[in-house]
Amino acid sequence: MPRVNRTTVLTLLIITSSVFLLFQLHYYRKYVSKQGPYILSRTGHLTQTVKKFLGLARHFGLPLFLADTAALTLLSQDSLRQRDRLVHEPHCSFLCTGRPVTSFALHANLWKYEPGFLLAAKQKGFELLELRGQDPRLASLDNLSGEEIPLHFLFRLHGHIIQVVFLYERSGNYLWHGELRLKAHVDRSFAPFKLLDYGRHPGSYDRPELVLTVVDGIDVRIPRNISRFLSEQRQARFLECRYRDARNFLQLYPDDVSPDAVDFRRKVKSLLHLAGRTLAQLDIPFWLSSGTCLGWFRQCSVISYSRDVDIGIFIGDFRSDIVSAFRSAGLSLKHKFGKVEDSLELSFLSEDVKLDIFFFYGDGDVVWNGGTQAKSGKKFK
Ligand SMILES: *[C@@H]1O[C@H](CO)[C@@H](O)[C@H](O)[C@H]1NC(C)=O
Ligand SMILES: *[C@@H]1O[C@H](CO)[C@@H](O)[C@H](O)[C@H]1NC(C)=O
Repeated sequence: MPRVNRTTVLTLLIITSSVFLLFQLHYYRKYVSKQGPYILSRTGHLTQTVKKFLGLARHFGLPLFLADTAALTLLSQDSLRQRDRLVHEPHCSFLCTGRPVTSFALHANLWKYEPGFLLAAKQKGFELLELRGQDPRLASLDNLSGEEIPLHFLFRLHGHIIQVVFLYERSGNYLWHGELRLKAHVDRSFAPFKLLDYGRHPGSYDRPELVLTVVDGIDVRIPRNISRFLSEQRQARFLECRYRDARNFLQLYPDDVSPDAVDFRRKVKSLLHLAGRTLAQLDIPFWLSSGTCLGWFRQCSVISYSRDVDIGIFIGDFRSDIVSAFRSAGLSLKHKFGKVEDSLELSFLSEDVKLDIFFFYGDGDVVWNGGTQAKSGKKFK
């Protein structure tokens, strides 16, 4: 009796596990493999669409690079790239990300807007949505109305979207892209707008160094340091200064335009550039703090009677080589208040302008920083 039971149980087990295995196989073929990089019915279309688009872009001289976060993430994995080199038949390891969108960035200052390009794309079967917005480079305290410029192109073919993000150079030596804002008449079903990598907010970037490479059989430029580009992308949200409010403020309290004040503002800006470059070398994020932040927020400028530059850094980002890095950049340490465990503040001097670095400490839901009055030694929190 126990023997029979054992056989029955074994048979039952074999049957159920076979059924389960068949089910898994079915599920895999039906759902999972559709996303997979090596299935040709899908990859065929996608690589063809991208290839067709890039062919046109090359013909019309568009300075593009691949900016798609999903594809770049795959490209940043060395093991995946090594494995990819061994595959010789047509395949799609990087562009087939399972997302219905591929995004490219366009260096807009290097391209003269060419309507012929859009016409040619339409003739090749692409549908197009062009999104425009105000040019912030012309907006200023004196003139709030910028001209409209192209900010994003969306091309659609076989249900796949190619997004082209226009990156414009702005004074201060960085690249900027605008928000993707849908006007009232725009077809909201044109693209899965929520899935786009770019356009939820305006963004700003350092100019990335690019390299030409072959991705899934297609020649395309990509950022040389992909991980740097991706980490920049995650925190690239750009905040425009509020020129309208600033203008209202300055009408009530006009800026000091004496030569001293003008000179001070120039020094502050160059000191901020220097601090930004020095901290970037150390990979330390910082922000404008105290009076410097107030000046930007209130009047899009530097408060001329503030006499120093204030920036903030999280204490978690403190590195002991900050002082030597600033010294190499030509700034001398003037004061050090507090200590790393409590209320640290470093004060550097450049010409006659002081750079105050306040370190910020987390405490539950709040962050705080300390301050010390140089003359009296009094501490504040
Ligand atoms: C403001 O900018 C617009 C667009 O560039 C231009 O047409 C206009 O003449 C400018 N107005 C002034 C007062 O500069
Ligand atoms: C890429 O950028 C990261 C972050 O900025 C940096 O740590 C890394 O050294 C860079 N890699 C190369 C090869 O330059």
